[in-house]
Formats: sequence, structure tokens, C-alpha cells
Amino acid sequence: MKDKIESIKKDIEQYSGSSAEAVEDFRVKFISKKSVINDLFEDFKKLSVEDKKEFGKTLNDLKTLAKEKLVSLSSGSIKNNTKNNTIDFSLPAEDDSVGSLHPLRIVRNNIIKIFRDIGFSIEDGPEIEEDWYNFTALNFPENHPAREMQDTFFISKDPDTVLRTHTSNVQIRLMEKQEPPMRVVIPGRVYRNETVSAKSHCFFHQVEGLYVDKNVSFKDLKDTLYYFAKEMFGSDTKVRFRPSYFPFTEPSAEMDISWKDGWLEILGSGLVDPNVLENCGIDSKEYSGFAFGMGIERIAMLKYGIDDLRLFSENDKRFLKQFRGVH
Ligand code: PHE
Repeated sequence: MKDKIESIKKDIEQYSGSSAEAVEDFRVKFISKKSVINDLFEDFKKLSVEDKKEFGKTLNDLKTLAKEKLVSLSSGSIKNNTKNNTIDFSLPAEDDSVGSLHPLRIVRNNIIKIFRDIGFSIEDGPEIEEDWYNFTALNFPENHPAREMQDTFFISKDPDTVLRTHTSNVQIRLMEKQEPPMRVVIPGRVYRNETVSAKSHCFFHQVEGLYVDKNVSFKDLKDTLYYFAKEMFGSDTKVRFRPSYFPFTEPSAEMDISWKDGWLEILGSGLVDPNVLENCGIDSKEYSGFAFGMGIERIAMLKYGIDDLRLFSENDKRFLKQFRGVH
């Protein structure tokens, strides 16, 4: 026993190394449950009372020595890492334990829930899209300046392919394959060739709405959007419709909501142009419909007082952290 203690003591004293691995090796060899010192304590249990008296203290001293050595080895290892700039121990710990929903996701979910409660279902469609779905079937004539309203990223020719400039492409995809009645909302990302700034971005998000059935009127459109505005922005919210133009709706209107002391535009809408229904094989004498499209970023900016579009895509944790616990 005595010899063993002596030899382990020497090993401990002579042990050197400041890498994390060296410290860990030391811990396994001299401190852990499987260590040589632990084995000695097992042997110790079997000793006579006399021998226990003799070796008890030396064995405990050995254990203490190993512990102290571990502390000094690990502080050497910390210094080593600090010197090599691998770890800065003076930095405050970051609390990353709880994530949050992205504000665009929160607003998207809110919008979808409002429409789901009144019987709309959710659909989606491709972001890389053929000209037919993004423009032609939506009644944008060939070479018509209306195509220039939306600065398009063109991808390839034959068939002409673009990054969709709006979620209205999904209107066509759905109407081509489904029979009315249909009542859907379509959230998704859209792209426009614009310079990135606080006020414009080359991609953003929209929620499209489409309702097609027999006898759908402009009153249905107004009632639905009025209900949406009150649910989304509060029961005191007023709305106003202004005549507008989109190739795929007739008549078309933009909707403003009352905000602080004025009015703010939040969406485009209208009755689905009969040409669009016909392009999708729907009889426009039998059916009519309304459609609308709104920007999610715009609504998120209003709701949360965000003044720079770029914040949504920079993934700055200081920004995102503020939405912890918001649904
Ligand atoms: N697609 C239009 C836009 O991006 C919005 C819209 C959708 C207008 C549906 C009318 C009907 O601006």
C-alpha cells in the first residue's frame, strides 16, 4: 500500500500538460471512479484496523493532492486558451436558451388564423414560376407596360421562367385544377428586382386570398376584408376602399386602414377578371370571385413599429429576441 501511494504521488507531481485533453486524461486517471486512487480506496476497505489507522491520512492526502493538481492543470489550460485567443472568459454569458418566432411568421400566422376561422383553407405554390402563371394567365398582355409595374427577375427562356413577383400565380394554379367553390389563402415569398434599402427589398412576403363561387359580389369582398381589418388591427379600425388597377381584377381597389391620424394602404383587391376565370377553364357566366393580396412585412412594420425592411432578413439576434413569447 505504502509503495503504491508513493508511486502515484510521484506520478501526480510529475504530471504536466495544459491542453484540454491532458487535463481530461489526468481527471480520468486520478480523480474519476475508475482512477488508481479510487482503486486504492477499495483496497483500503479490506485492511485491518491497524493498517487503516496507518494509511487513512496518507490516502486522503493523496486524494487532496490530486484534486489540487487538477485545479492547477485546468487553470493552466484556461490561460493557454486565452493566450491563443480561442476563448474570451471576460465575455458575459449569452442567454440563448429560449428561441422566438420570427415576426413575419407571427404576423403570417395571425392573418391565416383570421381567414381560417371564416372557412378559408391554406395553399401554396412555386416561387420559380412560368410566365403563364405569373403574368399571362393573369391577364397581363404580352409586352404590356403592366409587366413593368413589377420589376421581374427573369430566370430562363422557353418556357419563360421568372421568380414570382406576387403570390397571384397560385390563383391560376388552383383554378386550373379545382372546381369552384374555392376559398383559400396563400402565404409565400415573392421577389422583385429592387435595390435593397429600408423601404424596399428584393424579396418579401405576401398573403393572397381567393374566393370563387356563384354570385360572389364586391360586397362579399368588402365584408370579408372589413372583418379581417377589425380582427387584425382592433375593433375600432376603419377601412376605406380606393379604386385602383390590376390586370387580373375588375373592378380593382386598394384598401386603407385608419392608423393613428391618417390612412395606410395595406392591400390590393378586386373581383377576379372574367378573362382570368376563362383562362383557367372556369365559366365566367356561372361563377365570379374576389381576390386580394397583402404584404406581410408591411403589416409587421405597422404592428411592431419596425422602420427598416432589412431587419427582417438579417437575423440579428438583438432584433429577434424582442419577439420571445409573442405568438
Ligand atoms: N398581386 C398584387 C400585388 O402584388 C396584389 C393583388 C392580389 C391585387 C390580388 C388584387 C388581387 O400587388
